[in-house]
Amino acid sequence: MQEQTQDTFGFKWENFPIVGDERPALAKGNDRIERNGWNVEEFEDWVLGKRVLDAGCGMGWYTNFLSERNPEGEVYGVDIAEKAIRKGLEIGNGHLIVGDIADLPFPDETFDYIACEEVIHHTPKPEETLKHLVTKLKTGGTYTMYIYKKKPLLREMADTTIRKQTTEMSIEECMEFSQQMTKLGKSLHELDETIEVPDVPTLDIDGGEYSIHEFVYRHFLKCYFDWETENEKISTATNFDWYHPEYAYRYTEEDVREMVTNAGLTIENFNELMSGYSVRAKKSS
Ligand SMILES: C[S@@+](CC[C@H](N)C(=O)[O-])C[C@H]1O[C@@H](n2cnc3c(N)ncnc32)[C@H](O)[C@@H]1O
Repeated sequence: MQEQTQDTFGFKWENFPIVGDERPALAKGNDRIERNGWNVEEFEDWVLGKRVLDAGCGMGWYTNFLSERNPEGEVYGVDIAEKAIRKGLEIGNGHLIVGDIADLPFPDETFDYIACEEVIHHTPKPEETLKHLVTKLKTGGTYTMYIYKKKPLLREMADTTIRKQTTEMSIEECMEFSQQMTKLGKSLHELDETIEVPDVPTLDIDGGEYSIHEFVYRHFLKCYFDWETENEKISTATNFDWYHPEYAYRYTEEDVREMVTNAGLTIENFNELMSGYSVRAKKSS
């Protein structure tokens, strides 16, 4: 199942592990908590003693982040890419397991909290994956996810057309393409100029002042270059993450709300971010 997904992410995690100096797990974990509408202290009190699942955990950096904050509870990370799990380090009460989050080896109603961050859009049938995850959640339990949102019209057209080619590429070919996208993003970033753009609703363009890179990136082409860290390695991993996975569904806000509600969840926090939505929801009785 999902062999291409396993190869893509196995390669990504083997070659681009999230390592402390480049992308501190602590800062990233706290961002994740905050984008789900908690403040960090409130979350740390809430999570204590809970049974938690990090669904699609990659190397398990968030699994271990959760385990450090929840030493009295039980924390599991599951990922379909065996290489990622093998490369991952188990910390404290965090356990990493190879498996499919659409077919989990746990009894129903096992978890108090399931986090499915940046994963569900990579599964073949996200709506079904979500319903399956909800069966593993206790009544009253909490679910969080980050899911890709639909981009402006021309960017969607470009992504759909380009991804038809790049998902068929070998890992090496797609890495080369991703490096080219990073270089292009870097050149645009180095222009260091801004432009004033009018509202163009037909093309989903919100007017305002943009740097040239941001304008191109948001509306026309995924040519990511991390403008905060200026780190080429992370930028290329991010481009690869976009162009190679076989499934990368994108949704409107309405689609996401409907998907979550149809799965038997009640939305408690909904946050629109640049490339996706972060949702926190509760399993209704
Ligand atoms: C973009 S990464 C996100 C990893 C992690 N949640 C994070 O936020 O850093 C997506 C992960 O989902 C995993 N994945 C995709 N489909 C899966 C499935 N059906 N079951 C389990 N893991 C899956 C991939 O192997 C990959 O490690």
